[in-house]
Amino acid sequence: MSRIQSRLRGVRRRTATVLQSLADAAAPPRSQHELRSSVGGLWDRMGSLQFDFLVAQGLGTDDYLLDLGCGVMRGGRHFVRYLDAGHYCGVDIDAEMIEGGERQLAADGLAAKGARLRVTDTFDVDFGQPFDAAIAQSVFTHLPLNSIWAALANVSANLREGGVFYATFFRGPDGPERLVPIQQPCEEGRQPVRTFAERNHYHYSPDDFRRLCENLPLEPRDIGDWGHPRGQQMMAFTRTGA
Ligand SMILES: C[S@@+](CC[C@H](N)C(=O)[O-])C[C@H]1O[C@@H](n2cnc3c(N)ncnc32)[C@H](O)[C@@H]1O
Repeated sequence: MSRIQSRLRGVRRRTATVLQSLADAAAPPRSQHELRSSVGGLWDRMGSLQFDFLVAQGLGTDDYLLDLGCGVMRGGRHFVRYLDAGHYCGVDIDAEMIEGGERQLAADGLAAKGARLRVTDTFDVDFGQPFDAAIAQSVFTHLPLNSIWAALANVSANLREGGVFYATFFRGPDGPERLVPIQQPCEEGRQPVRTFAERNHYHYSPDDFRRLCENLPLEPRDIGDWGHPRGQQMMAFTRTGA
């Protein structure tokens, strides 16, 4: 690709981003249906998948759970129903998601379960008590590495010792091969997700996460496949005593 073509591509991408933010600012609030589509659809399946996974990992009804990038309660509604009142905390950068999440819990008859939902663009996950477990389902797939570091740092500061933070990611190679876009494996009949090193959707290698944890009180573990229909894999980060 010539230099001019590459510059034009950059200009096109930046123009599209500006136009998208202008359109977003002018758009009416998204309906519940649109919010569900924004988090990726598969409403029942992806809700149950994350709930069943955490219960299989030992999530108890008296545990405190943090849902980072909780969206519109696709998983949250299952967790809120299961956990003791006040034990579910969800954060999201998108205020419309949090408002939609509150509406969803009310519609499900779960308003009295005292879920604590918060809008944050700084990964502010301090809810005044340590968490036993945390999950970020389909969130690291949208974040650059420094944001992931910030998320890991803030979550680790609010996990009890031995508590585990589960986060899904798209797997990619370590080293320069990462720069080649990847067609992620997925279930037959689904459109595969294309992932990149430097833009959304991102792919990472487990070694990327290991390096991020070098200065954090977290022990990373590569769980791998956990049944995600679009090929997202699972990492676990256990809070150490350090
Ligand atoms: C694909 S959705 C998944 C939502 C939810 N975890 C689920 O499984 O339904 C990703 C969510 O992460 C949120 N998100 C993206 N970047 C974030 C950030 N920096 N801090 C908090 N939430 C973020 C988005 O607003 C969105 O709701």
